[in-house]
Amino acid sequence: MSESNKYKAMGYKIVEHKFDAVVVGAGGAGLRATMGLAAEGLSVACLTKVFPTRSHTVAAQGGMSASLGNMGKDDWRWHMYDTVKGSDWLGDQDAIEYMCREAVPAVVELEHQGVPFSRTEEGKIYQRPFGGMTTEYGKGPPAQRTCAAADRTGHAILHTLYQQSLKHDANFFIEYFAIDLVMEDGECKGVVAIDMADGSIHLFRGHSVILATGGYGRAYFSCTSAHTCTGDGNGMVLRAGLALQDMEFVQFHPTGIYGAGCLITEGVRGEGGFLTNSEGERFMERYAPSAKDLASRDVVSRAMTMEINEGRGVGPDKDHIHLHLEHLGPEVIEKRLPGIAESAEIFAGVDVTKEPIPVLPTVHYNMGGIPTNYHGEVVNKVGDDPDSVVKGLYAIGEAACVSVHGANRLGSNSLLDIVVFGRAVAHRVAATVKPGTKHKDLPDNAIEKIMADFDEIRQADGNTSTADLRLELQMAMQKHAAVFRTQEILEEGCEKISAIVEKLPNLKISDRSLIWNTDLIEALELRNLMSQAKVTIFGAENRKESRGAHARDDLQDRDDENWMKHTLSYVDENNNVTFAYRPVHMNTLTDECEVIPPAKRVY
Ligand code: SIN
Repeated sequence: MSESNKYKAMGYKIVEHKFDAVVVGAGGAGLRATMGLAAEGLSVACLTKVFPTRSHTVAAQGGMSASLGNMGKDDWRWHMYDTVKGSDWLGDQDAIEYMCREAVPAVVELEHQGVPFSRTEEGKIYQRPFGGMTTEYGKGPPAQRTCAAADRTGHAILHTLYQQSLKHDANFFIEYFAIDLVMEDGECKGVVAIDMADGSIHLFRGHSVILATGGYGRAYFSCTSAHTCTGDGNGMVLRAGLALQDMEFVQFHPTGIYGAGCLITEGVRGEGGFLTNSEGERFMERYAPSAKDLASRDVVSRAMTMEINEGRGVGPDKDHIHLHLEHLGPEVIEKRLPGIAESAEIFAGVDVTKEPIPVLPTVHYNMGGIPTNYHGEVVNKVGDDPDSVVKGLYAIGEAACVSVHGANRLGSNSLLDIVVFGRAVAHRVAATVKPGTKHKDLPDNAIEKIMADFDEIRQADGNTSTADLRLELQMAMQKHAAVFRTQEILEEGCEKISAIVEKLPNLKISDRSLIWNTDLIEALELRNLMSQAKVTIFGAENRKESRGAHARDDLQDRDDENWMKHTLSYVDENNNVTFAYRPVHMNTLTDECEVIPPAKRVY
């Protein structure tokens, strides 16, 4: 029986599409790439599991960094210095140079495309201070570098990029869930997806497949991420036998609302907000005498956790911290932070003009992801060259690890990353793919394994619900891969997560329908979360030092001699994790800046 007849006999309808490029994900990175590719005259399909403007970029609040210098002197080299230091010297300096330099034209482009940035009195783009952003290579005063549209910057950018993509006639496949990559002889040839509305299966052929599938915050119990943040592209990459990079580095945002996890932007502290403990003390003055509440996120999250652990948390259980913005006054709050006032009211019952917001460090961002170079091309350790490229495959945004954030990302460098690398990938693909290039036929069994695995999950008839198993995973990650880690807690975590992963075949899918079967889709998402959780906890156990967001109580120092290198993690068919390493790029792209040598990281 031919392959298509075989799937038909199994009850599947398979539809084939051919495009020059296929983008998976319609957050800021995916839309910037989609728009750029369409504008270059390539045929482009953008697949997205939610309506584009519901992608998680919509929740990004505080802004996008770029050294425009609208509010004081600034320089992209100072931005580069801050980012390298913020990364705890794990970021690739060539990529960081590229991002910080391209930030300025990228923001100007967005402004021209219609992003309604907040304005200064003279009509320039308004910029606010953010953590770890300084002037004069850390020696000057804090930089006002973060370009903001009040506290809804992601929302503004996402809507603009969607409208621009439509203007350029990009093709959207909305509420399509990507299942797996189609790989042939080490090259990516397309992606298989399900149309969730009618259950049809779609094979999207693309000369370039661009993964813009975001992070996997939902591997944890408490996170600022949307329910959709399950890192589906990362899961697909691991199943394709490719590596993920630096997965042990998970960022905790200092100010998630206590109990709810919703984000309260760092922009609050940028506008003058501050944290206090149960004694009413502005404790950040002790931990970061110079930057105080605007130290980088890993530093602030650790300080808050230490205050709580030492009995100085607030509330009846002394288990959280207060964030004050009452002193800013209703006018500033209304103008600069209206969304925060609303969130605090809804999720904490707090009137921010009168009382502090209860906050707690909350999982927010994955520094790790699919390893790429600064063009967005996926790199992998193939043979002896750690930087060799996987043909046809690209990754951008939080799904990718370029690596511009290294061991810790600075706030507002994420909106920057998605726009700069979404744009870079569009340029790279346009330079390498001629519009309308014919696709070679795939072998008859090209999607056989993908369909067999998919069908196995669909038919799963065990004794565990997807929700129960996911909760078990999330609780284990929350406990064992937290702000502070030790060998013992990590080893225990590895055992627990391994045991949870082995339970995946025990899932019970409540019905066999292909049409709007949310249980099936959540099971596919859980499969993706599982492998990512596994490489995260094993990667953390494997890294015997503290660096950025990976803070070990038992190994408190950074060890540049042995660990200034990227971790590449692979998962085999039996769920075993193996590691390889790539060197950190300690070089610049041009002679307009200099390599920043490792130094002690103090704020
Ligand atoms: C925030 O506004 O604090 C979040 C933005 C970011 O993570 O860069």
